[in-house]
Parts: sequence; C-alpha cells; structure tokens
Amino acid sequence: MNKKPNKSSSAPEVNTQKTLHKNLDFTATEQYKLLRANLNFTIPAGIKCPIVGITSSMRGEGKSTTAVNLSYVLAESGKRVLLIDGDLRIPSIAKKMGIKSTPGLTGLLMGYEAQRLGDFKSTINENWYIMPSGELPPNPSELLGSKRMERALNALAENFDFIILDLPPVNLVSDALAVSEYITGMIVVVRQDYTEKKELEHCFRQLSLSNVKVLGCVMNESKENGKSYSRYRYKRYYKYYKYYGHDEKHRDVDME
Ligand SMILES: Nc1ncnc2c1ncn2[C@@H]1O[C@H](COP(=O)(O)OP(=O)(O)OP(=O)(O)O)[C@@H](O)[C@H]1O
Ligand SMILES: [Mg+2]
Repeated sequence: MNKKPNKSSSAPEVNTQKTLHKNLDFTATEQYKLLRANLNFTIPAGIKCPIVGITSSMRGEGKSTTAVNLSYVLAESGKRVLLIDGDLRIPSIAKKMGIKSTPGLTGLLMGYEAQRLGDFKSTINENWYIMPSGELPPNPSELLGSKRMERALNALAENFDFIILDLPPVNLVSDALAVSEYITGMIVVVRQDYTEKKELEHCFRQLSLSNVKVLGCVMNESKENGKSYSRYRYKRYYKYYKYYGHDEKHRDVDME
C-alpha cells in the first residue's frame, strides 16, 4: 500500500496492475466515468481540446494512476485522447503501460527524435495515444515552462479532443506550476489516509499564487461507503469533488 513508483525503465513489461484501465473492477471504473462526466462540466465552453494537468501535493498520491484511468475512460467514450507523461524526474507512465519510455515528450521538445503520432497509439483503445517522458532532461522545469512546450501542446491539440498531462507534485518541484500557463486547468489528487492536510493547504496556496485554474480534486483510494461496495476486496473507489471557485476551494477537499 502507498508504494512509491519506481524509476521508469525502457524495457517493456506486461502490465496486469489491478488499478489500471481495463483491469479495473466495476466500481472503480464507474468512479472514473463519474470523474469524466464531472470534468466535462468543469471545462469552460468552447475549448476544442482541453489540456488537463494532473498533480498533487506530494509523491505517491495517485496522480499517474488517475491520469492513466481518466484518459482511458475518455478514450472509451469515443474521444481522441493523448496522455502525456510530464513527470520528467520520476516518470512512470511507460512502466505502468508496459511501453518503452522513448520516443517521448523530451524528444519532441528538443527535436532530436523524428516522431509520428502513430508512434504513440496504444494497443488497448484506438482513440488512446500515450506519450511517455522520453530521455530525462537536466532542466525539467525550464523545459515544461518553455515556449517549445506551449507550441508542442498547441500543435498536438489540433489532433485530439483531450490531452491529459501527468505532472510531478506541486510541493516538491515547480514543474507543475511551470506548465500551468499552457493548460486549461488542473486536477489535484488527494489520497485518503496519506495526504497531509498542511501539505494540501500548501499545494493550494502555490496553485493559487500561480493563478492555476483548479478544475477539481480526486479523492483516491477513498474508503467511504465501504458497506455499499463490500463485495469489492479493498472497498476502494475514486471520487471526484467539484471545484466551485477560488474562494471556496478548501471546502471541496474533505480531509476529515
Ligand atoms: N486507488 C488505488 N488503490 C491501490 N493502489 C493505488 C491506488 N492509486 C495508486 N495506487 C498505487 O500507489 C502507487 C503510487 O501511485 P501513482 O504512481 O499513481 O502515484 P503518483 O502520485 O503518480 O506518484 P509520484 O508522485 O511518484 O509520481 C502505485 O504503486 C499505484 O499502483
Ligand atoms: Mg506519478
């Protein structure tokens, strides 16, 4: 429980994790569908391809798991979706998905790899594209906040209905804040019995100072309503709390 992700490896592995995409049980899948529905309500009207960042306060709260599963259920609903591993320090999408970590985002940004969109097409769903981190750069924050990143996202957005960007935690490095200018909004993941209240408060303070639009929070590994889901082994489900506005943001995150 609460395992930290390992560093990404370029060796593909078969992934059978029960917490990911088509391996999820019924209850968890339904919660991600609920997240998908609520997300659609929070995206401002008129945006052709929303770019949604996924972050949290600390390591290991379930950002990458949420990014994989949210992008998967969006693709399942018929949307063309690109999942990007924007954690250029400890990437995990390639490992979680059992794919190579290159070609990837850094190759695209630095222009040292010839890339075709087809390179990123998943074998799981024809609408689902997955761009791993690529080689790890010495300057992740600068790269993510660069004009190259903005141009790359805008160009990619021409080809998709949704881009989901998995990011590092806000309280440890500035990478998630660096990219905030180029994205539609951020989802903040909170993990029950793991995330500390003061860390979450600090995270929201940082997001607010950087004028990041917080679209909502995901309560990962919530054990509420355990009774109703008792037939599921871990009584885990995923819950989405709508974000109602800047002044009320702390109200939406129930840490009790
Ligand atoms: N709801 C869940 N139930 C069980 N295990 C989970 C759940 N969510 C995440 N995990 C596990 O917890 C670990 C951390 O999850 P994940 O990699 O998604 O977190 P993260 O926030 O992206 O971490 P990091 O900050 O290091 O990038 C992984 O081993 C993952 O499989
Ligand atoms: Mg991660």
